Amino acid sequence: MSYKHQIAGVIAHAANMEESEALRLLETPKDPKMGDIAFPCFQLAKTLRKAPPMIAAELKENIQPALQEAGVPVGNIEVVGAYINFYLDQQAVTSDVISNVLTAGDAYGATNIGHGGNVTIDLSSPNIAKPFSMGHLRSTVIGNALANILEKLGYNPVRINHLGDWGTQFGKLIVAYKKWGSEDAVRQAPIPELLRLYVKFHDEAANDKTLEDQGREWFKKLEDGDAEATALWQWFRDESLKEFNKTYELMGIKFDSLHGEAFYNDKMDRVVNLLEEKGLLVEDEGALVVKLDEYDMPPCLIKKSDGATLYATRDLAAALYRHENFDFAKALYVVGGEQRLHFKQVFKVLEKMGYDFAQEMHHIPFGMMLKDGKKMSTRKGKVVLLDEVLQQAIDDVRNVIAEKNPNLENQDEVAKAVGVGAVIFHDLKNFRLNDINFSLEDMLTFEGETGPYVQYTHARACSILRKAGYELTAEKVELPSGALEGAESWAVVTMLLNFPNVVQRAGADFDPSVIGKYVIDLAQAFNKFYAHVRVIDEDQAVTTARLHLVAATVQVLRTSLHLLGLQAPQAM
Ligand code: ARG
Repeated sequence: MSYKHQIAGVIAHAANMEESEALRLLETPKDPKMGDIAFPCFQLAKTLRKAPPMIAAELKENIQPALQEAGVPVGNIEVVGAYINFYLDQQAVTSDVISNVLTAGDAYGATNIGHGGNVTIDLSSPNIAKPFSMGHLRSTVIGNALANILEKLGYNPVRINHLGDWGTQFGKLIVAYKKWGSEDAVRQAPIPELLRLYVKFHDEAANDKTLEDQGREWFKKLEDGDAEATALWQWFRDESLKEFNKTYELMGIKFDSLHGEAFYNDKMDRVVNLLEEKGLLVEDEGALVVKLDEYDMPPCLIKKSDGATLYATRDLAAALYRHENFDFAKALYVVGGEQRLHFKQVFKVLEKMGYDFAQEMHHIPFGMMLKDGKKMSTRKGKVVLLDEVLQQAIDDVRNVIAEKNPNLENQDEVAKAVGVGAVIFHDLKNFRLNDINFSLEDMLTFEGETGPYVQYTHARACSILRKAGYELTAEKVELPSGALEGAESWAVVTMLLNFPNVVQRAGADFDPSVIGKYVIDLAQAFNKFYAHVRVIDEDQAVTTARLHLVAATVQVLRTSLHLLGLQAPQAM
């Protein structure tokens, strides 16, 4: 239980109020001089009809002995105006927190808020005839981090890659392949070749108006199960997937399901029939739609006049499938902000169909990845290819290592962990709704708010422990006086103390950047500590206490990096 909870319990008892209410009112003062935790008495003043400072003073008298009795490590309590300020007993807290972290190990920060409930997470979901864009990178890394975070909170994440493996683009690709492609070229470099064909198609289509029609025809053949079309589609899909899998492997990302849009081909009639039965389908200029006027939304398109089903129809089928197969506690869709309306419509249609589970479905939107301040577009071939970026990042890091630490073991492995980590972290340190500017340079600096900086701090802390021959002992940490008393230690300790809250907030807001920002702060606090405090002291007991703090920091840095989907090399 957190100190805040403990203090809330004592206040609630003394002031005769609900504990949850006391907890809600407790604040963390911006200025540590005003205490570590503060309780404002304005609200009590209203019910008690007394001046807030008077209530604060009276309450303090009752609280002080009660806290002591309950063993809450509060050192000092001061009344300032309407506030009761609590100062934690830093020595007691320091020893507690370090012991808790070291005892819990990798489980520090874990809770069981989720009670094992399934959470389906729709993530990555690239369109497979196209290269893996930086936009899909965002979905991949945000989704994967959310899965890790929710798992830490006691949920069971189900990572679903809803591959974009169906749609008119396959008709276009077949046309382009037959006109300008070759089997060899596709085999040799599937993604770049398919991209070349895709871009070529659009270039040519600007002049040749019949191309679009041919593309539609071939897609129609595909839908009707034509053998040649199906074989080509399957082949493009397989080759693309092989390439994507290399990228996923490099990033250390695994999926529980690869059911993409095509998987739902035979599940569409059921959705259409259900909508029909429930009287929700209306005809609109030849198409079948569900009206959403009452919610100020345009109608949700279910079936085109030529009988083709749509993206939304597939998502409705997928929602039913996921609900039936995973009985999810929550269903998340990590998809760019451009698709806001789409998901609002899909969730509303499910609600109109009478499915309560629609309440537990969340679109997790994110901003765009910009290049030189502009949007990237596949059609014009103006994309940054994820594979190239990752490779470049890894090569750059390898060069830095060769120069700065030529004797390091497993240089390749470390270069991979740091290069890939740099790309992932660059995304996750930003609040997901913000647009981010793509810059390899910014990602890779070892100073500043980057993945390499955090990983380097972790490796350095590991090396302190290695050199000192530290061995982890998960017992109660003793603190000889003077060992960990300065503001620099306290800053690290309060950060470690906060970690479980940080994980919970990241989960509640579906926002990995809460952890991204936290881990930068922790790394900075630790580096400041290390610059001010000599860990190795003449007094062995003092040294041991300080090493315990280093070990606890290593633990939380590592857990944070893992939650974000980064590795934490022990040396670099
Ligand atoms: N393939 C789609 C795109 O790139 C994203 C799919 C997102 N997931 C979903 N269930 N609609 O735009």
